Amino acid sequence: MVGGMFYPEELVEEVRERNDIVSVIGSYVKLKKTGANYVGLCPFHNEKSPSFSVSGSKQMYYCFGCGVGGNVYTFLMEYENYTFVEALKALADRAGVKLPELEYSQEEKRQADRRSRLYEINKLAAKYYYCQLRDEKRGSMAYQYLKRRGLSDETITHFGLGASSKSGGDLYRYLRSKGYDDEILSQTGLITMDERRGAYDKFWNRVIFPIMDANSKVIGFGGRVMGEGTPKYLNSPETMVFDKSRNLYGLNFARQTRKNYMIICEGYMDVIALHQAGFTNAVASLGTAFTGLQAALLARYTKEVFLTYDSDEAGTKAALRAIPILKEAGLTARVINMKPYKDPDEFIKALGAEEFENRIKQAGNSFYFEIEVLERQFDLTDPEQKTKFFNETAKKLLVFTEELERNNYIEAIARRYNVGYESLRKLVNRYGAMQSVVKTDTERPVRQENGKKDRADEGMRTSQKLLLTWLINDNRQFEAIRGIIGPEDFTEEFYREVAGMVFEQYETKRTVIPAGIISRFENKEEQTMAAELFSTELSGELGSTEQEKAFAETVRRIKKNSLDLASRKAAEAGDGQALQKIIMEQANLQKLHISLKNG
Ligand code: CTP
Ligand code: MN
Repeated sequence: MVGGMFYPEELVEEVRERNDIVSVIGSYVKLKKTGANYVGLCPFHNEKSPSFSVSGSKQMYYCFGCGVGGNVYTFLMEYENYTFVEALKALADRAGVKLPELEYSQEEKRQADRRSRLYEINKLAAKYYYCQLRDEKRGSMAYQYLKRRGLSDETITHFGLGASSKSGGDLYRYLRSKGYDDEILSQTGLITMDERRGAYDKFWNRVIFPIMDANSKVIGFGGRVMGEGTPKYLNSPETMVFDKSRNLYGLNFARQTRKNYMIICEGYMDVIALHQAGFTNAVASLGTAFTGLQAALLARYTKEVFLTYDSDEAGTKAALRAIPILKEAGLTARVINMKPYKDPDEFIKALGAEEFENRIKQAGNSFYFEIEVLERQFDLTDPEQKTKFFNETAKKLLVFTEELERNNYIEAIARRYNVGYESLRKLVNRYGAMQSVVKTDTERPVRQENGKKDRADEGMRTSQKLLLTWLINDNRQFEAIRGIIGPEDFTEEFYREVAGMVFEQYETKRTVIPAGIISRFENKEEQTMAAELFSTELSGELGSTEQEKAFAETVRRIKKNSLDLASRKAAEAGDGQALQKIIMEQANLQKLHISLKNG
């Protein structure tokens, strides 16, 4: 439970109730009233016609275009990238609700205090570097360097670029003069404490790139030598506020662009050059390999990414490593070909933004990219090597578990490499068969029979979801299933959890408050799933007898499934008595009279 971690649930609910979702979202998104709801352009994906709907009666939002949804808390968490507690504080503030002073432990207080001081110091340091760059005498070399690299004054300001001075203690003295002691300064990563030399600045005589998190808070710095010299870049070490694996350079700007894709590149200068050329949706990882956390972060804002990693071997390897990570996070990846240039910065300087746009349009699916890289390892004029190449390709084609999709790729690859579709397909299936023999049940099944079981499970999920939707839309139907179905009959774990909350609300309050239920889920996927569930409207097209039939059928199916499961369990446990009871219930199921309640 999110709220329960620190604040009592009643308070979380009170704050939610005092902040009308229509007016909160209305301050970010232009909303128009249509019927009972409000609609607008979804702030979480790029669209031209509005599919983002806000319901005043449900106090929820849902986007029929991209599937995001939730209550007023999740909206702020998503839009402002707030944590739950931050969203709660903002909304409490907005509604004039005073939050109780929490009993933080001594240690928690110290940590929170330290973090906020680190942010403060980073901000001061960024300002300091920024002023150094503007100083005609001290900053002119750095300024000239940035100019030589083609950056406009506007770009330099936008990214808050700066310069560190030639002597190695200026920042240290400045921060001391602001009252910070050595203990906290040593934790910023900006000052090195040395027993012999004393304290000195980490960055000197470099141009400075402040690194910001998604909320534009400065969390660290990168510094580049002006011209040749090693190391080319120096970065802040990880600190209490700087975690390289869960931040992306440029994301604070990119997340606001509303394009339906993001560009991932390798360097600070690439991001800056791309933004300057109008590609304001570019981000870079921070001098380390791309991580799953970064992929998850991107997945909050987009569904598709374009990779423009350096066209050298290291860049290709990095792209190959990033592709499965992106896929795992549910993102599709395409790879931009920048040849003959090394990186986007150089490409744009040489060929311009328009040509880069063309390369984006031509960017191949990441699977083709993987196959092209694979191809380079073989000499396709040699029959033996060619066979090996197709064998490796066949193994790779198994990543497509959906038969139709797999066949489409087999067809495309067969055409590309001029090989028979049937023979490639046979090869793929042979590897598939071999693989399914050694499959463990945690992996996705490739075989047919499992496909059937998947579909049956899918049908049961749909039934359970439908019944919940029914109950939520029309609370009277709780009475229709009283004594027949309870939360425990929902065999799908997520639906069982929702059912537990919904039934409990109905029993205690005689009504269901969907928006309140959403905050009780901690992870974002579950919040979204709950929002979807609560936003589904029943199709009004069914005539009432058909509705009646569908309802009874759904209830029976769910109950039967739950009884079957219970009987299997009782049989396994050798509990004859329980089994007897279940068999009776199973027999009665057909005779049960289930009808919709009207009025
Ligand atoms: N990097 C780093 N330390 C280095 C070299 C590189 O942290 N010694 C990181 C930086 O984040 C850099 C990125 O890796 O932006 C890409 O490095 P590279 O391709 O070598 O540099 P460019 O981005 O092309 O930088 P420039 O155009 O300024 O040469
Ligand atoms: Mn470069």
